[in-house]
Amino acid sequence: MKLEGKAAAITGAGSGMGKAIALAYAREGAKVVVADINLDAAQAVAAEIGAGGREAAAVQIDVRDQAQAQAIVDAAVQSFGGLDILVNNAGVGRIIPFLETTNEDWDFMFDVNCKGLLWCSQAAARQMIAQGRGGKIINLASQAGRRGEALVLAYCASKACVISMTQSMALALAEHKINVNGIAPGIVDTPFWVEVDKQFARLLGWEVGEPKRRFVASIPLGRIEQPEDVTGAAIFLASSDSDYMTQQTLNVDGGNWPG
Ligand SMILES: NC(=O)c1ccc[n+]([C@@H]2O[C@H](COP(=O)([O-])OP(=O)(O)OC[C@H]3O[C@@H](n4cnc5c(N)ncnc54)[C@H](O)[C@@H]3O)[C@@H](O)[C@H]2O)c1
Repeated sequence: MKLEGKAAAITGAGSGMGKAIALAYAREGAKVVVADINLDAAQAVAAEIGAGGREAAAVQIDVRDQAQAQAIVDAAVQSFGGLDILVNNAGVGRIIPFLETTNEDWDFMFDVNCKGLLWCSQAAARQMIAQGRGGKIINLASQAGRRGEALVLAYCASKACVISMTQSMALALAEHKINVNGIAPGIVDTPFWVEVDKQFARLLGWEVGEPKRRFVASIPLGRIEQPEDVTGAAIFLASSDSDYMTQQTLNVDGGNWPG
C-alpha cells in the first residue's frame, strides 16, 4: 500500500473525482478527512470507507470561508493526529459566453476554485510545516486551464489560475519538503458534467446529451473519462514515488490536450 500511515484531507469528496480519490486513498492505507459543503454526501463516503475497514471523518465545509478551511486541518489533527496530504478538489463551473459573464459568475467560480484552494492550502501548509515531516498538496485543475473557450471564459481562467497557484505554492513550500502538484482532467462523467452538458446544449441550441456525445467523440482514447481514471495520478502525487516532483500539473484527459 502506497499511503499506509498517512492522513489525507480531500475537499469536495462527497461526489465525483473527490469521492473516487477518497476511496482510493483509503484502499492505499490512508486515513481520510472527507470534506464537502454537502454533509450528507460527505458522511455517505466516510461510511463507505468505514464499511471497508478503514478510517474516515466527515466534515462539512465551504472552502470559500477561511475559518471553515481550518476545520479540515482540525479534523485531521483530532481524528488522525496530523495531516500529510491535502487534495484541493472542490470546484464549480458555469458555461457562460464572454459578453454575458457577470460579476456574480466570476466571483462564484473564482471564490470556490481559487480562493477556497488558497485558504485550504494555507491551513494545511501551516500544519505540515509545524509537523516538520513534509507533505503533499494536490490541486484539481482542468484541461480548461490549458486554453480558452469562447463559452467558458471564467471557468477556464479560474483553472489557469489553479495551475499558476500550483507553481507559486510549490516554490513557496519547497524548503519544507511539501510537494505541490496538480491534475488536469478532461471530460469526466460526474454530476458536474451533467450540468455542463445542459448549459452547452442551451447555448448551442442542441439537445441535452448532444454536447457530451460530440465532445467525447474527439477524445483520442475514445471514451469519456471516469472519476476513477484520476486516482492513479492522485495516489502517485500523494506517495513517496513523487518526492522529487513539484510545480507540475499532469494532464489525465485521454490525450485530449497535447501540451
Ligand atoms: N467533471 C469534469 O469534466 C471536470 C474536468 C476537469 C476538472 N474538473 C474539476 O475537478 C473537480 C471535481 O469535479 P467533479 O466533476 O468531480 O465535480 P462534482 O460536482 O461531482 O463534485 C464536486 C464536489 O464539490 C463540492 N463543493 C462544491 N462547492 C463547494 C464548496 N464551496 N466547499 C466545499 N465543497 C464544495 C460539491 O458539493 C461536490 O460534492 C472540480 O474542481 C472540477 O472543476 C472537473
